[in-house]
Formats: sequence, C-alpha cells, structure tokens
Amino acid sequence: MSQPRHYLQFSDLTAAEYQYLFQRAQVLKRRQLSGQLYQPLVGKVMSMIFEKNSTRTRVSFEAGMAQLGGHAMFLDGKSSQIGRGEPVEDTARVLSRMSDVIMIRTFEQSLVERLAANSRVPVINGLTNEYHPCQILADILTYIEHRGDIRGKTVAWIGDGNNMARTWLQAAKLLGFKLKVATPVGYELATLDGEHYGSDCFEAFHNPLSAVEGADLVTTDVFTSMGYEAEAEARRQAFDGYMVTAELMRAANPDALFMHCLPAHRGEEVAADVIDGPQSVVWDEAENRMHGQKALIEYLLLGQLND
Ligand code: CP
Ligand code: NVA
Repeated sequence: MSQPRHYLQFSDLTAAEYQYLFQRAQVLKRRQLSGQLYQPLVGKVMSMIFEKNSTRTRVSFEAGMAQLGGHAMFLDGKSSQIGRGEPVEDTARVLSRMSDVIMIRTFEQSLVERLAANSRVPVINGLTNEYHPCQILADILTYIEHRGDIRGKTVAWIGDGNNMARTWLQAAKLLGFKLKVATPVGYELATLDGEHYGSDCFEAFHNPLSAVEGADLVTTDVFTSMGYEAEAEARRQAFDGYMVTAELMRAANPDALFMHCLPAHRGEEVAADVIDGPQSVVWDEAENRMHGQKALIEYLLLGQLND
C-alpha cells in the first residue's frame, strides 16, 4: 500500500504545492460563494480528534467536508477511548480503516507524528503545542486576496514565540518573505531540531516597534495558549507592553494588514480599535480556514485538479 501524504507541519508541502493550493482555494471559494454545488468527496469521511477546545477548526473542517459532499465526525479526546489511554498507534490503525482522512488537535507534535506513522490515510494537524499549519495556510491565502503575492514582503509577529510564530517562520523560509518577531524575554521563538532560525528571512527583537518597522502585515495571538493556563498570570505580567495598538500599527507600513488567528482578547494582546478597525482582516482570515482546508483536503485525497 502506498504511503499517504500527511500535513503535520507547514514545511510538509513545497512552495509549488502552496501556489497550487492558494489558487485552488480561491476557485473553491468562488464556487461556494456563488452557490454552486461541488461534491468530489461523496462517500468520504473525515475523523476529527479534539484534545483541546475549538470553534473555527471544528466548524471549518466539518462545514468544508459537508460542502465537498463528504462527512466529518467529531471525536472528543475525553469521551473517546483516547481519554482512557488507548495508544495513539491503535487509534490510528482503527480510524484509518473507517475514514479517508484524519484531523487531530492535540498537545505534543510527537503524538501527531505517531498517529500519522500508523495511519493508512492522510493526517492533518489541526494545532499542536508546536505548530498550526492550517491557520497559516488561511492567513497567507487572506494576504494574497487583499494584497497579492507575499514573496518579498515583511510580516511582524508580536507576542508569544508559540505554535503560530513557529509556523510563520516555516512559511517565511518556504515562500520567501521576512518574519520579524518581537517577544518578551523568556518567550522567544524556541529552536526545534533541524530548524535554523539564523537565516535571512528571520529577525528577533524584544521591542515591538522594531519588529513592525517596514511590516506589510502585523499579527499576534493570545498571551496564553491552550495547555499553558497555569502560566497565565506570569504571562500577563511578562507581556505587558506587547499589545498591538493603533500607535504600533502606525509604525508599520501605511497599507499594513492586521491578522489574529482568534479567539482574541481585546485590551490584552490587541486593542479593540485595531481588531475592529479598517486594517483588520480577521473575519476573512477566519472564513479562509474553510476555503484553504477544502483545497488541502481535496489535494491530499484527489491530487491536483484543474476543473
Ligand atoms: N484559530 C483557531 O484555530 O481557532 P479555534 O481554536 O476556534 O479552532
Ligand atoms: N496559540 C493559540 C492558538 C489558538 C487558535 C493556542 O495554541 O491556544
């Protein structure tokens, strides 16, 4: 049996494959918004495992599968046997005999890798402590829709050196844009094995003003990601001064966009007049989770299509 293609981190696809996916997502989006039925996945099933909360990821995958003619099943970590300690390898063997694609949101990336290693069908990472590739797929699709090609542009990340920041870095290297990251001391983007952060596409700061200088896109995220709740108070103090404010946006390029993967906390990591202001594209960004993932699922299951 041939090995399935997985999407466990952003670097699992090539720049050429992303070019295809961004273009294909726009085709599927136009088709869906014009009310045209397009159902190449009739009879196909997605198993979705959630060990962390979600609104967008669950709805975008479930709605996307339904629109493509397939079906998505929600498995809650706690109420399934996963929560009672069934090995992820066994879960993978069973689910992949009954479904055509598996999506998982969990804690450690290594668990997703073990799931994929034992799955007969493609596995998609719907967020881990380390990465959130589906979100960056949607974010870059959104950038392209508003401003065109992202190659050669500058993205400023303000806040935690977390799963989102790490995925942005993979995207910068692959797609040829610059990532400037401003984090508090102690919350820097940590190096993972095999990744070299000291390249042309990456600059690290502690001062948010330095990071947004020359930025075409300013983006941030919660101070406390899921799984780190015990650190919330310490983080609130450490991240004082890392809110994306209107003043910070004025220090970026005049046509800079603002993005946030959501959920957001107005008055913490972003000021209300920024997220609700004219430079913000957060609702398009959220919607594009569904369009980007539809293109991704279609590609993993059916390959490139040009219809
Ligand atoms: N951005 C994102 O992944 O949202 P959810 O946590 O609601 O899925
Ligand atoms: N960094 C956040 C993203 C939520 C969509 C988290 O991991 O909780």
